[in-house]
Amino acid sequence: MKGPMLTLGNGVGMPAFGLGVFQSGPVETVEAVRTALANGYRLIDTATRYMNEAQVGQGIRESGVPRDDLVVQTKLWISDYGYDRALRSFDRSMEELGLETLDLYFLHWPVPKRFERTLESWNAAVRLLEEGRVRAIGVCNASPDDIRRLTEASGITPAVNQVELHPYLAQPELRKANREMGVVTQAWSPIGGIKRYLGEAAATGDPLRDPVVVSLAERYGKTPAQIVLRWHIELGNSVIPKSVRAGRIHENGDIFDFSLTRDEVAAIDALDRGERGGPDPAEVTPETFGSGD
Ligand SMILES: NC(=O)c1ccc[n+]([C@@H]2O[C@H](COP(=O)([O-])OP(=O)(O)OC[C@H]3O[C@@H](n4cnc5c(N)ncnc54)[C@H](OP(=O)(O)O)[C@@H]3O)[C@@H](O)[C@H]2O)c1
Repeated sequence: MKGPMLTLGNGVGMPAFGLGVFQSGPVETVEAVRTALANGYRLIDTATRYMNEAQVGQGIRESGVPRDDLVVQTKLWISDYGYDRALRSFDRSMEELGLETLDLYFLHWPVPKRFERTLESWNAAVRLLEEGRVRAIGVCNASPDDIRRLTEASGITPAVNQVELHPYLAQPELRKANREMGVVTQAWSPIGGIKRYLGEAAATGDPLRDPVVVSLAERYGKTPAQIVLRWHIELGNSVIPKSVRAGRIHENGDIFDFSLTRDEVAAIDALDRGERGGPDPAEVTPETFGSGD
């Protein structure tokens, strides 16, 4: 698979395309990572919260792909926020992954109502960056204001902002703000996965069933997922679709032999309804996820 490389603000290179493993069970995760790497994926996104960092590490080792060819991302969960707790959680993640150095370490959610905890955690991430234990640090679900506050307080701008982003939540203003701050936008639920987890009631909110997407799929002899993933690539997003099925892992990566025209990209842009499947980041507290604190 040949996909574009993105250059992060600190010069580190990252493939735009990779695999997500949210809700991938332990055995499935090992297999999904091995399959993805065999299919040419070189970017893997996990998180402490997903409880599968060890299986990501196992899949990487079993793949035989040299470590230096990979970008591995994991995330600090909000119940581990705070300077010392964050450093301890990072050590546990690295032990689980079985890695010496991490490529990208994320804060999983800002906690706007207790921003000082987010900032303490960010400062811990900055220390890990300065010590060379991570090659880059980023945030998930952050607003432009969150990014400005973290940057002003630490002198370090997040390299990546990973946010919910699919045709029904295209986030044009946030993408523009990220770009202007030199932050790469990475799309989670890029093919609208979060909308499908909500079940049949949300079926009309599934971008893979949208007539515009379906007709483009017919035009190119591609699947709706491939059309949506190609749209992300045309926008310059990084994208990390999740699947535990070998056929879909291959399908999702098979998007570099065609491109969408400017008008076709605009037609998908026009589907934006500002329709979030996940929590509104401005409202998130540890209790949102039952984490307590
Ligand atoms: N930072 C955050 O707060 C945050 C939040 C959510 C997710 N993420 C990250 O982003 C990654 C991707 O997001 P996501 O998992 O929520 O959603 P997604 O990648 O948009 O969609 C995944 C869902 O779609 C199915 N699927 C995969 N390929 C398909 C295809 N070609 N056609 C039809 N269905 C397909 C998968 O099922 P099968 O596995 O059965 O194929 C799964 O149910 C996550 O895995 C995680 O790494 C981050």
